[in-house]
Amino acid sequence: MNNRLIIAIDGPSGVGKGTVARAVAAALGYRHVDTGAMYRGVAWRALQDGIGFEDEGALSALATRIAIDASGRVVRVDGVDISGAIRNPDIDRGAARVARIAGVRAALVAQQRHLGEGGGVVMEGRDIGTVVFPDADVKVYLDASAEERARRRVHDQTHNGSSDMAKVTSEMAARDDSDRTRAVAPLVVAADARVIDTTGLSIDEVVERVLAMANRPPES
Ligand code: DC
Repeated sequence: MNNRLIIAIDGPSGVGKGTVARAVAAALGYRHVDTGAMYRGVAWRALQDGIGFEDEGALSALATRIAIDASGRVVRVDGVDISGAIRNPDIDRGAARVARIAGVRAALVAQQRHLGEGGGVVMEGRDIGTVVFPDADVKVYLDASAEERARRRVHDQTHNGSSDMAKVTSEMAARDDSDRTRAVAPLVVAADARVIDTTGLSIDEVVERVLAMANRPPES
């Protein structure tokens, strides 16, 4: 099997991209890159440094300056383990704000391309198949109903947030709206992506579908 594929997994919040991408990467012996954690890392550092989310210039400079490692279980910014600090409602909101800024995206997309250029990578996010790697070998867009995604988010052990389903649903809808309508790299389905509605599927079933695509990518 070709061991150098680029597998792009995109989709909205709470759809299970992380779990699926990690399992696919483990099965293939590939590197897993969580690009959402990179936007979260910028938001975390901005809060630490007292940079306002409206200060586009300072946030773009910050994204260029800091070293973010989001390609393992542990997420680090300038060597500091921030894994436990970036999955909560403050960072959910902050990451959606910084993800709207062209300069932030340019800095992070450059790093993402560098990480994936040799292949052997499963990269998850919102714009991987459309902007970061438009020529990815395998493109998957995971989707699920809003109710199902809110339910998964509430049960996500790695995310510290409210367990109020109505609140989680409405906050998630606001962030999805921000991701889908922003001017730069909005969340859209790539023309050549395979859409998988995961609503009634188990994680294993989704992972198997992606692995089947990786074993026989559309180009071959
Ligand atoms: O996947 P996530 O919830 O950890 O992403 C956090 C935020 O970053 C979310 O608002 C979407 C945004 N994001 C993005 O704009 N582009 C990506 N490639 C990944 C995430």
